[in-house]
Amino acid sequence: MVTLISRSPDETLALGRRWAETARPGWVIGLCGDLGSGKTQLVKGLAQGLGCPARVHSPSFALVHEYAGGRLPLAHLDLYRLSGAAALRSAGLEDYLLAPAGVVVVEWFDRWLQAQMPLGTGPLRRVHLEVLSDTERRISYVDLGA
Ligand SMILES: Nc1ncnc2c1ncn2[C@@H]1O[C@H](COP(=O)(O)OP(=O)(O)O)[C@@H](O)[C@H]1O
Ligand SMILES: [Mg+2]
Repeated sequence: MVTLISRSPDETLALGRRWAETARPGWVIGLCGDLGSGKTQLVKGLAQGLGCPARVHSPSFALVHEYAGGRLPLAHLDLYRLSGAAALRSAGLEDYLLAPAGVVVVEWFDRWLQAQMPLGTGPLRRVHLEVLSDTERRISYVDLGA
């Protein structure tokens, strides 16, 4: 497990950009952490690092945003609105995780796991973000899968 402290929104953005440098097709990144812990900020960095030209929005209403035009396509899922297992199962999101086209990043990934939704066998980074103060976030992650 790797643990680091981000001391500003920019540091979290830069972390996402660095992660994008090592991104491979089929990579799934699962983000867990409270509202405001910096999940979307990290996704913005990933999108920048991949060179996706579009601006990243919080997809809480859309469930999925797909960003093309970068080195790899980026799919951004937000499960915030799918709190129950039944809602998750009927959302039809399985293919994003089972057969990722490029990089897939999932906010509220703990919900996917709690609902025992399927996971592929490819590389998976499980990330936890915690609010330490107004400007500090503890970000820890483990790499699993292939
Ligand atoms: N070190 C930090 N890393 C990321 N965000 C931070 C940090 N410090 C303060 N913030 C603020 O916390 C909020 C994080 O929002 P967001 O990324 O949308 O969180 P989430 O998607 O987890 O709800 C932003 O308003 C951001 O400016
Ligand atoms: Mg968010």
